Formats: sequence, C-alpha cells, structure tokens
Amino acid sequence: MLQDLPSQTFRESSPCVLETERLTLRRPTLADVKAIAHLANDRRIAENTRRLPHPYSQDHAVSFVREMAHERRDIAFLIENNFVPVGMVGISWRDQDTPELGYWLGVDHWGQGFATEAARAAIDFFFEETDRELLYAGARVSNPPSRNVLEKCGFQWSGVELHRFEALGSSSPVDCFRLTRSVWSSLKNWASSTRREP
Ligand SMILES: CC(C)(COP(=O)(O)OP(=O)(O)OC[C@H]1O[C@@H](n2cnc3c(N)ncnc32)[C@H](O)[C@@H]1OP(=O)(O)O)[C@@H](O)C(=O)NCCC(=O)NCCS
Repeated sequence: MLQDLPSQTFRESSPCVLETERLTLRRPTLADVKAIAHLANDRRIAENTRRLPHPYSQDHAVSFVREMAHERRDIAFLIENNFVPVGMVGISWRDQDTPELGYWLGVDHWGQGFATEAARAAIDFFFEETDRELLYAGARVSNPPSRNVLEKCGFQWSGVELHRFEALGSSSPVDCFRLTRSVWSSLKNWASSTRREP
C-alpha cells in the first residue's frame, strides 16, 4: 500500500503490468508512438476525452509517452489485445482530492467489451494500491457508451458539471460519477449462488 507516502502517487507501482482475460495493460513506451497516434487520431475519440487534441500526431504521442514516464500524479496503461494496441486507460491525479478514471479505444475496437475489461483492471489497481475511498469519472452527456462502461464498473451518477474539452475548444456538460471503495469491494466479493429444486 502506498498510503505512507507524503503525497499520494503511483510512482512505486507504476512499472507493473496488469493482465485480464483478453487484455494486457502496460506502460506506453516510445516504441508505441506510431500505434498510439494511429488509434487516437479520430475526432470521435477526441471530442469525448478532455485533453486529447485533434488532429493527434505522432509528436503528440511522443510528448504524452515522455510525460507519463516522469509523471508522478497520473498513470496511463496502453491496452493490448493479443499484443495489438487497442487503446488507453489511466487515472489522472492532478487534483489530490479527485483521482479520475479515463479511457479510450481505437474506433475499430469498440463493441467488444474491451473498455469495461480494461477499466475494471485499472480500478482494481487503484483501490489495491491506494487507501483512497473514492474514484471519480465523467462522460459527456452525449456519450452513452462511456456511461455504460462506468455503470458496468459500479460507478454511481453524482450530477452534471461543465468541463472543457481541448478538441472542442469549449466546455460541454458532463455526467459525473463516483465509485466508492465499499461498492468496489462488494462487487469483487459477490460470489455466485446456485439454485436447486426443493
Ligand atoms: C467509451 C468507449 C471506450 C466505449 O467503448 P465500447 O466498446 O462501447 O465499450 P466496451 O468495451 O465496454 O464494450 C461494450 C459493448 O461491447 C459489446 N460486447 C461484445 N463482446 C463483448 C464481451 N465479450 N464482453 C462485454 N461486452 C461485449 C457489448 O454489447 C457492449 O455493449 P453494451 O454495454 O451496450 O451491452 C468508446 O466508445 C470510446 O473510446 N469513445 C471515445 C472516447 C471516450 O468516450 N472515452 C471515455 C471518456 S472518459
């Protein structure tokens, strides 16, 4: 657990690789720049993520990978399926009080459950590696697929706020969600039951 650090960060844990049934989540490197730029350079992604610019060039990907290598507050995992990069998931911790889950998938990889599977791994990582009680997330009100991901992970709606989106060059209403440690823990421990005839 990292709660003894004077300021909460992921630094000690960040080199780890997370495995799920179909996915591997690992830190992005400069060798991934071409793939990241190829996946991220799509307006449908940029307009739903707060900080992704559009168009998204390989230079943007280089800056992102370098920033993540030195960043102590944010953590990003490249999501791979069968060694093929499909998207990104991470936790932004720029504001100490509101660690926030974020994710995007390349458009060709939508509709296969990868975002939910990757988000669950990142959520486990967050609650296992910190002592925080709350994880935050948001989705534009016009983005039901992202809202679905959050609800499938146990997030609960908490209200609507206006947030700025880099690619839009303006602010947009965002459905805000939060996931408590107790809900996460309960979902993780919800064992299956069996039914039998009396
Ligand atoms: C948000 C985003 C990641 C969602 O992607 P997605 O592919 O719809 O989400 P999932 O990976 O959870 O896939 C869900 C769908 O896959 C389908 N699916 C197919 N095979 C599946 C499987 N084995 N397991 C689960 N779902 C499966 C399901 O029908 C499911 O749809 P449902 O939730 O309506 O039932 C994607 O739309 C995106 O990148 N958008 C742009 C960026 C963005 O909005 N980011 C979030 C901002 S925080």
